[in-house]
Amino acid sequence: MMEAVPSPHRGEGEGEGTKPATGASAPVLEVEKLTAGYGGPPVISGVTIEARRGAITAIVGPNGAGKSTLLKAIAGLIRPTEGSVKVKGADVTGLPAEKLVSKGLAYVPQVANVFPELTIRENLDMGGYSRKDGVRERIEELFKLFPDLAASSQRKAHTLSGGQRTMLALARGLMVDPAVLILDEPSAGLAPKFQGLIWERIEEIRSTNVAVLVIEQNTRETLRHAQWAYVLVLGENRLEGPGQELLDDEEVVNLYVGRLS
Ligand SMILES: Nc1ncnc2c1ncn2[C@@H]1O[C@H](COP(=O)(O)OP(=O)(O)OP(=O)(O)O)[C@@H](O)[C@H]1O
Ligand SMILES: [Mg+2]
Repeated sequence: MMEAVPSPHRGEGEGEGTKPATGASAPVLEVEKLTAGYGGPPVISGVTIEARRGAITAIVGPNGAGKSTLLKAIAGLIRPTEGSVKVKGADVTGLPAEKLVSKGLAYVPQVANVFPELTIRENLDMGGYSRKDGVRERIEELFKLFPDLAASSQRKAHTLSGGQRTMLALARGLMVDPAVLILDEPSAGLAPKFQGLIWERIEEIRSTNVAVLVIEQNTRETLRHAQWAYVLVLGENRLEGPGQELLDDEEVVNLYVGRLS
């Protein structure tokens, strides 16, 4: 088991371990008392979270706690029955996913959905469909962030490894210059060795002033990276705090983390 030491990446973000109530770094994503499900009883009830630019915000909690459901309700894949979602101060509650893109919110689902028959570059082109201009420039910027993709930009997506496909899905989500990037288990289905690589990329994305909202498999590692984390249990907020503080809290680790990582 790894020790709970602060990651070398920490300490650069304005959101570092703090949750300023107002001011310049006001939350760019505000979710208030959100209730949602799949037609039956609600899966999440009255969940309140927020995410800030330049910070990694994590949702952790046991399997079935409703983490993915929360992200889907925020990202417009399912419609909340109560509560509100705001992006950059604008109410976007209930908007479908394709409309949310133009509001500054990008969602990368658990299974990396890239177009297998298209090349890397073509996939990124498609990801930028809603941009008025600057597609080519944005692709070049993203190639700097993802040098592996740049090196094989003419390869078709179906020839990529799982890890490369995940990187492509991340880059595609970033084509629209989102204020908020939502990631549901980007390392799902990948060998554990990819987790470190994916966290490196997430840290770089964060450093470009994006608000990253993420669920990841390894709770301990996730808390280590998160400036702020929410513990979700049975579809409700249970606890929140700087990731490292939650990790240092013996009770939290025993109750919610120890069994999970
Ligand atoms: N499409 C669906 N239709 C009906 N029920 C669903 C659907 N997706 C999830 N659920 C139910 O919602 C509850 C929460 O699931 P969710 O996937 O949000 O949990 P999670 O916290 O993401 O879990 P995990 O850590 O296993 O990914 C579970 O009881 C699950 O069975
Ligand atoms: Mg899930």
